[in-house]
Amino acid sequence: MILHFVATAPAKVNLHLGVGEARADGYHDLVTVFQSVDLWETVRLSVDTRAPRVTQGSVVTGMTTSFGVKRPAEDIDTPANLAWRAVDAVVDAYRRIDGAVSLPRVSIEVEKNVFVAGGMAGGSADAAAALLAANAFVGHYGGTTLSRDTIVDLAKSLGADVPFCLMGGTALGAGRGDEVVEMMSRGLYWWVFINPSVPLPTGEAFSRLDDLRHNDASVVPHLNTTTLSRCLLTGEPRLVARALHNDLQPVAVAMRPQLRALLDFAADCGLRAIVSGSGPTVALLCEDEEDALDARDRIEAAFDGYEIVCAAGPTTGAREVLEY
Ligand code: C5P
Repeated sequence: MILHFVATAPAKVNLHLGVGEARADGYHDLVTVFQSVDLWETVRLSVDTRAPRVTQGSVVTGMTTSFGVKRPAEDIDTPANLAWRAVDAVVDAYRRIDGAVSLPRVSIEVEKNVFVAGGMAGGSADAAAALLAANAFVGHYGGTTLSRDTIVDLAKSLGADVPFCLMGGTALGAGRGDEVVEMMSRGLYWWVFINPSVPLPTGEAFSRLDDLRHNDASVVPHLNTTTLSRCLLTGEPRLVARALHNDLQPVAVAMRPQLRALLDFAADCGLRAIVSGSGPTVALLCEDEEDALDARDRIEAAFDGYEIVCAAGPTTGAREVLEY
């Protein structure tokens, strides 16, 4: 018999991304506001119940990703994939509690609906979903699951955006963005996400911002989210649109100049367009669903070959899927 353990996790958009000082560990302190949006990554662990069990080493036999978005050139189904690393991390943590636990081996399937390397935390959502699926798996064979605190600690160790993908909703992120606390927000916000599919390495964007600040004292961190949090309480997309901000946007545009034309065109189709996270995806906030669908059609007609999707937020965070 084949058993499945399944979980799903949402993408995110940064309503505010303030980048502070570079830290000794190579990261930057952030003050960011996350919103989860209803684009979901699904992770399924499949277990052949007749297969022999193991008490050490990785339980993962392999992984397969199916793409609802553009497939990247390189193979991502490797042990370096965050979903694979998340399963290994849960099993290792479980063995630290119960060293004798004997587990069957699993294969991982990821259903991708979030742009790859787009600045919307698709890889982090995979990790968050894989943590929950793997916790259900060790719970089934070991009798107890890891605590929520342990899962959150593992999430932090996997990547800065993983704790938010677990949590979902609207949240303020501090530290590397991994110290998250829920924020109050009213209403539903409709977005169009446009991915020009040009590589924009996150680490390079951050170091370009350091250079820019080094050479120009007027480029300062924006670490105050008071106006945005007030706007989120109104539930008015028009007010939230005005309060959107991303410190990385100038460097993203400098690195990939085609973003300028996309940002300008998109802004004319909705309330406000900004670069999502470290890019290259552009996020356009719209008044409502109808406006978002219209904006999508207009942008699609103007920009050939770009990936475009509409989505609303906030949503819940990662959750186990019991019926699949
Ligand atoms: O979180 P992730 O591993 O995707 O980050 C990629 C790179 O982006 C990091 O290695 C670091 O150079 C940079 N980064 C940063 N500060 C953050 C998040 C990412 O400098 N808070």
